[in-house]
Amino acid sequence: MRIAMIGTGYVGLVSGACFADFGHRVTCVDKDKAKIDGLNEGVMPIWEPGLEALVKANAQRGRLTFTTDLPSAVENAEAVFIAVGTPARRGDGHADLTFVFDAVRELAKVIKPGTVVVTKSTVPVGTGDQIEKILREEGVTDVSVASNPEFLREGAAIADFKHPDRIVVGADDDRAQDVLREIYRPLFLNRAPILITGRRTAELTKYAANAFLAVKISFINEIADLCEAVDADVQDVARGIGLDNRIGPKFLHAGPGYGGSCFPKDTLALLQTAEKAGVDQRIVRTTVAVNDDRKNSMVERVARALGGDVSGKKIAVLGLAFKPNTDDMRDAPSIPIVNALVERGAKVSAFDPVAREQAEKIFTRIEFANSAEEAAADADALVIVTEWDEFRALDLEKIAEILRGKVLVDLRNVYDPAEAGEAGLRYYGVGRGRPAS
Ligand code: UDX
Repeated sequence: MRIAMIGTGYVGLVSGACFADFGHRVTCVDKDKAKIDGLNEGVMPIWEPGLEALVKANAQRGRLTFTTDLPSAVENAEAVFIAVGTPARRGDGHADLTFVFDAVRELAKVIKPGTVVVTKSTVPVGTGDQIEKILREEGVTDVSVASNPEFLREGAAIADFKHPDRIVVGADDDRAQDVLREIYRPLFLNRAPILITGRRTAELTKYAANAFLAVKISFINEIADLCEAVDADVQDVARGIGLDNRIGPKFLHAGPGYGGSCFPKDTLALLQTAEKAGVDQRIVRTTVAVNDDRKNSMVERVARALGGDVSGKKIAVLGLAFKPNTDDMRDAPSIPIVNALVERGAKVSAFDPVAREQAEKIFTRIEFANSAEEAAADADALVIVTEWDEFRALDLEKIAEILRGKVLVDLRNVYDPAEAGEAGLRYYGVGRGRPAS
């Protein structure tokens, strides 16, 4: 298949590289010339495990090319995927579809009859209909429009793409279904389930999946608060409920609240869709509120661990990216936490294995350390914000030695409270019993 992938962000670049790896001929298009020039020289615009090798290997075989010229890519394609950004519009949470519609208007000028246009970006219900309308207005008739949402996680994107739990295809006509089946054939051979639905259903499925996962996280975070009040351990509660197949063990990790480029944006967009449809979604609405409060209240935990006041204290922060294995800082819980610490007069020394460059654009009033130990030296408290693997096996005795304040605030429950205590640290996790005062 000849595929054009419009937009080379996370979704576009990973999907494009993986499709090329399946043997399809893929042209990735982006307006950002610097990004395309970089990709043509093998420089990745994002940090994602395995991506560079995959892109280079497929580019070398001539199956993956990069261009800023949309017409040339679309002209020869049998399927055109739209994977441009759909950010939340400032203020109201609506998904901003400007980039999607601009791309459609542009591709309408050159697209050949029989081509299938597929949205891969997360787009609100009804976007496929709007795309069809724009195409008609531009005089394009014999083109199918389908929805094929992506469920990949940053940091595990390539594995997620190649071993998906399911492939969702929303297509209202046979041609679109056939083309998408053919594109994903290598995955059916691996027995990945494919779900063919109506287009609107596929669009909604993506939002419902992310909203449900967000609900799970907010749920366990509230249970963690209850655990602290009644002296129970949320790690064991999560395991105890997660072993029930109907609940499942994943996304039951209590912490500082969800962040990233998807959950915050998609939950808000779902609420907007619901409001427009006149159907209240109380559970998702509450989930969003719980998560916002949570991220903003994390600084209180650090303050409590330090006797109520962080002013003049040196605080070491480990992990800034919204989760491990990415340099993505979008909606990272570290942002409200670090900003509030600085506002309250603390001196912050932070270390993140990969996100430093991105973080330097956001935090201008903190120090960046080159290792966990360097950040911890002489600090009054060590706060784990993102659970990078390299923070899972710190030498706690050494940390206790170099920390001035001997306080470990573990917002990801990486450590065993008893072990941390034995190492000489005062340990504050999330939902690990009644916190020491
Ligand atoms: C998510 C979805 O998983 C993916 O299917 C979708 O396509 C895009 O959004 P991603 O944003 O990359 O992927 O990250 P994910 O690993 O899902 O984590 C999202 C956030 O939830 C992170 O901030 C993470 O720390 C938090 N989280 C996750 C928890 O706080 N607890 C958990 O148990 C799981």
